[in-house]
Amino acid sequence: MAGPAPPPTRPLFVVVGATGDLMRRMLLPALYGLSADDHLPAESAVLGAARTSSFDDASYQAWAAAGLKEFSPYHPDAIDPWCRKVLHYQSIGEGTPADYQNLAARVAKVEADHQLSGDRVLYLALPYEAFAPTIKGLAEAGLNHGPGWTRIVIEKPFGRDLETARDLNALVHTYFDEPSIYRIDHYLGKETVQNLLVLRFANVLFESLWSRDRVTKVEITVAEDLGVEARAAYYDRAGALRDMVQNHLTQLLSLIAMEVPAAFDADAIRNEKVKVLHSIAPVEPEQAVFGQYTAGWIAGAAVPAYRSESGVPAGSTTETFVALRLKIENWRWQGVPFYLRTGKRLGNRVTQVVVNFQRPPVTFFRDLDPDEVHSNELVMTLQPDEGFDLVFEVKAPGQTVATKTERMRFRYAEQFGNLPDAYQTLLLDVVEGDATLFVRADEVEASWRLYAKLLAQPPAPHDYAAGSWGPDAAQGLLHPDEEPWSRP
Ligand SMILES: NC(=O)c1ccc[n+]([C@@H]2O[C@H](COP(=O)([O-])OP(=O)(O)OC[C@H]3O[C@@H](n4cnc5c(N)ncnc54)[C@H](OP(=O)(O)O)[C@@H]3O)[C@@H](O)[C@H]2O)c1
Repeated sequence: MAGPAPPPTRPLFVVVGATGDLMRRMLLPALYGLSADDHLPAESAVLGAARTSSFDDASYQAWAAAGLKEFSPYHPDAIDPWCRKVLHYQSIGEGTPADYQNLAARVAKVEADHQLSGDRVLYLALPYEAFAPTIKGLAEAGLNHGPGWTRIVIEKPFGRDLETARDLNALVHTYFDEPSIYRIDHYLGKETVQNLLVLRFANVLFESLWSRDRVTKVEITVAEDLGVEARAAYYDRAGALRDMVQNHLTQLLSLIAMEVPAAFDADAIRNEKVKVLHSIAPVEPEQAVFGQYTAGWIAGAAVPAYRSESGVPAGSTTETFVALRLKIENWRWQGVPFYLRTGKRLGNRVTQVVVNFQRPPVTFFRDLDPDEVHSNELVMTLQPDEGFDLVFEVKAPGQTVATKTERMRFRYAEQFGNLPDAYQTLLLDVVEGDATLFVRADEVEASWRLYAKLLAQPPAPHDYAAGSWGPDAAQGLLHPDEEPWSRP
């Protein structure tokens, strides 16, 4: 696929945590895909680093090539030569100052060997606890500044709560200035998430209805049918609130609710997102329902309860489901509830935003029962079947006046084919210095602030059967007159 010319730089990607799942399944395929599409100059190089010393360049290249053959859809024949040409490995052992000095020396050597431009992306693909010591280790070895620009990418979760997020911001600001810090939430790299802005701001049809004058409620769902898989050790300490709500769902919420930015640039957009978060009071326990899955059925197969999953402590009270009712106290949204819901082992894998509009005053149709007329809905599906549906009423043909609910349907894949990969989009943005789709320091703190009370006093989780749509108690968050949660 021919694309635009690569940016005028020959950067080095230094990935710390280069032997992990993220590197194998996401980052390597994204880097390989960017090279294959000529979005990155052929001279770029990748230096992988992790504690293990069981890799050298050759064995790391073989490991990466095996992963790419499994996870990349691009030219399988070109994988081995690309890995041999581009990839290197350096152990950081126990992370002593000497280990980081060795890493810095290796960075300089790889740059010289590949005749790179001195621009560097430092990507921390690490567990949360390793962020602070790694940032310190890199910086104290002088890697926070290089011959060209240096940008640091920090994976989620950025902190475990407001206090730790503040501490991590303070630490990273000791060594890097904010414009060179890229806090990644890969949801923001998805084409359909970015389309939320275009749908809202490039269509007068929607923006003119986008307020408490016409909207009655907004529902945001990020549902997974998978269980905890191989991530029990991490997940049981995190839970759904930290793993999904504080980042992905809160990002979607702020994109849906933000005011029109003054410009389509990083600061203007992020200013508006932060303002929305500051208009929401910290969520009280009575605005939340937590759940944990019990044994059940997914796609016809029996699956175990969360507490019986390998690596989960028997008495765990970690939530695998969260439903919330949020209120945004500003002129646009006052009185409109925003419902957020996420969970593992739910009925379906889907990410969806449903905007409900007011019911029409239909009493002038004498024969029509007002309850038969459904309110309009805009359903934005972000995965897996990306697109949107506009749900509206038509007259059913016949002598009497009866309505029927129909959908106008748009699907990205039908119109445009495959969508760009989120990590490719985001890595290229880092190289181009565009932070629009990354989370700013004040934004990450504002988002943790929303959940401070829930993190301090987590509600006890209700049971729900795997394959269901969460605990019945989640219905209790809705106003009695409202339609139940959608079943996407
Ligand atoms: N996997 C995903 O799909 C995914 C998706 C979105 C975000 N993320 C985020 O990406 C990050 C990495 O996730 P992952 O799934 O790749 O984790 P992982 O499979 O556990 O890999 C972690 C990597 O970090 C290294 N590491 C672990 N502890 C370290 C330490 N104390 N100091 C230095 N290196 C250390 C590991 O190698 P050594 O043990 O040899 O050092 C390994 O290379 C996490 O923050 C996660 O939340 C992952």
